[in-house]
Order: sequence, then C-alpha cells, then structure tokens
Amino acid sequence: MNNKFYVGYGTIHKTVKSLAERLTESGFDPDVIVAIGSGGFIPARIMKTFINRPILAVGISYYNIDQSHADYPQKIQWIDETERQIEGKKVLLIDEVDDTRATLGYCVRELLRHEPEEIAVLVLHNKKKEKAADFPPEITRYFAGLDIEDLWIKYPWDADNIDVHHENEKIMLSEQKKEQDV
Ligand code: G4P
Ligand code: MG
Repeated sequence: MNNKFYVGYGTIHKTVKSLAERLTESGFDPDVIVAIGSGGFIPARIMKTFINRPILAVGISYYNIDQSHADYPQKIQWIDETERQIEGKKVLLIDEVDDTRATLGYCVRELLRHEPEEIAVLVLHNKKKEKAADFPPEITRYFAGLDIEDLWIKYPWDADNIDVHHENEKIMLSEQKKEQDV
C-alpha cells in the first residue's frame, strides 16, 4: 500500500467542491468546461454541480486503442464542435492528474489554436516531479486539488471492488494520521 495513493468518491467530491470555491475566489468565471477523457470526465461532471457550465469532451491518451503505449499523445476523439465552441470563450480544462504533463500540455496547445479568450487548467492531483512538458505562457491560472509525491494514485472508477477500494483509502488515511501524530 505504501507506494499507492487511494482516493475514494467522497474525497474526490470534496476536493472538487473546494476547487470550485478557489476558482470563484480567483475571479475566473468560465463559459465552458472542457473535460479530458477519460480521467477528467467524472471530476468535470462533479464540477458542473458547483459551477453549472456546459461540458465539452475531448479524448486524448498516451495509450492506443489496443492498450499498447504510444510514443506521443493521440487524439482518440476530438470533436470539431469543441473547437468551434471555445473561440472567444473562457475555458476550464479539467483532468484527473497532472503527472508528466505530456497529455495536458498537448491538449492545451491544441485548444489554444482555436483562440479561446483564456484557458485555466484544473486537476484533482498534481504530482510533485519534473514534468516532461511545460504549459505555454498563455496559461496563467492553474488549480490542483492536492499536490502529492510521485505515487501511483488509485482512482475509484478503476476499482474492481469499490468497497475494498474505500476500505483501503480509510486504512491509508489512518496510517497517515498515525505518522503525523508521532
Ligand atoms: P498528464 O499530461 O495528465 O500528466 O498525463 P500523462 O501523459 O503523464 O499520463 C499518461 C496516462 O497515465 C494518463 O492516462 C494519466 O491519466 C495516467 N496516469 C498518470 N499518473 C497516474 C496515476 O497516478 N494514477 C492513475 N490511475 N493514472 C495515472 P490517459 O492516457 O489520459 O488515459 P485515461 O486513464 O485518462 O483514460
Ligand atoms: Mg487522463
């Protein structure tokens, strides 16, 4: 369990709520949410509960359809409509994790070609590590729910048994608390 970081649905919901509050405090009022699939879909939907903006979806992955690893991020699904709809708009781009930043950086650069007014990037988790790519200077707003060490995050939507997953999260949190109390 030591090198894995378990996050349950309840925790994610609360993380998104606090991100929504930070977003509002920052004065950024997006016209539209763009969710990067598949990891960004559920966080984006929860965000809609708090800020009530339409969601557009793009699918980008480092993995091919047959699950083999590709050399560069690939557009699995890229809706022309998304491009038309972001022109002149304030976009909130949502993904679950900022890991190497390769996928996120690629997505930001592609979206910027369609002249949005602004793009803010929002992720549940940012891994504190050297990034393979950087964001272009146009990106001045960045929100991460939690900055964590370079651990493998276990998301609930990947769980085979959600009860075991939530139990593992509880165990991990109580271990963390014990360490803090020492
Ligand atoms: P980044 O730009 O968001 O940093 O993503 P990067 O290309 O580095 O990540 C490649 C894939 O690995 C992404 O999935 C990302 O979601 C996934 N990933 C990275 N770190 C973790 C982690 O700690 N836990 C889990 N569960 N996934 C991680 P993808 O190719 O976009 O596919 P999808 O799962 O979003 O559909
Ligand atoms: Mg992803």
